[in-house]
Amino acid sequence: MTSDVVAISSPAPGRMPTERSSVPPVMLLQGDAGTAGACLPAGSFDLLYVDPPFFSGRRRRGRAGPGFRDQWGDDIDRYQGWLMPRLAGMRDLLAPSGSLIVHLDWHAVHPVKVALDHLFGRAQFINEIIWSYRTGGTSARWLARKHDTLLLYARTPDYKFHPLRERSYLRHHYGFGNVTILRDARGPYRWTGLRDVWEIPALRGNMPERVDFPTQKPLALLRRIVRLLTDPRDLVGDLMCGSGTTLVAAAQLGRRAIGMDFSREALMLAARRLREIEPLLPGTEDGP
Ligand SMILES: C[S@@+](CC[C@H](N)C(=O)[O-])C[C@H]1O[C@@H](n2cnc3c(N)ncnc32)[C@H](O)[C@@H]1O
Repeated sequence: MTSDVVAISSPAPGRMPTERSSVPPVMLLQGDAGTAGACLPAGSFDLLYVDPPFFSGRRRRGRAGPGFRDQWGDDIDRYQGWLMPRLAGMRDLLAPSGSLIVHLDWHAVHPVKVALDHLFGRAQFINEIIWSYRTGGTSARWLARKHDTLLLYARTPDYKFHPLRERSYLRHHYGFGNVTILRDARGPYRWTGLRDVWEIPALRGNMPERVDFPTQKPLALLRRIVRLLTDPRDLVGDLMCGSGTTLVAAAQLGRRAIGMDFSREALMLAARRLREIEPLLPGTEDGP
């Protein structure tokens, strides 16, 4: 990708695309996600993914790179008062067949789920996806907290959805009369419909895709989301994009992408990743 394609701009009314068809392959905008509704065409996104601060009470910072504050004085109302108007703005940016994924964890997912049910209507809630991982750290006082929760809402009942499959590993070969049994290095398996619990490794320091951004999410997670909910050339957005994982996943899969963040340092990291993007080998993951 060339560097001009991933230039960072400030959203300026009058200089933004007014229609979905005029959005370039990738756009990076510096600003508050709460202002996106005023500068981007309403009803235009096929998918919006957002991975906001989690109400963790922590200041998130990489070793030397960018970071962000996730401190709310332990006041969940203050957090919700900040988050919900931004999520409402995102809903209005969705195309009629579009969907929103809100990525949170145990700190705030429950009140936000209730508020999103009000915002979208309970019937528009599609899935609670559990992203399960194994990272270091445990406690003698509670179970190791090793999952995040991704809430999937559709703008209308006529939402885009491409069922995916996963490998279901078998202890033995027999008893599966008319089922095709395949084999890989882990053993025999058959293809089954993808469940709502996803085992995807969290990023570790020695992984090539890792950049020095706290809370960076794995590309495999975002590619699965993009495949599930969009088609090639569709418009994907992440209005709190951090290091740009969603945008890289979208670009790898031939979707257009708009990223926004109020941190210029985060956007610079995202721009660098987009310039250095590796093409994806066909059939890398998610089945045939
Ligand atoms: C959890 S990080 C996102 C990480 C990202 N998914 C990745 O893989 O790198 C949250 C991001 O939200 C950004 N952010 C927080 N409040 C924002 C706001 N009001 N508008 C835009 N971005 C915001 C932060 O700067 C941070 O980059």
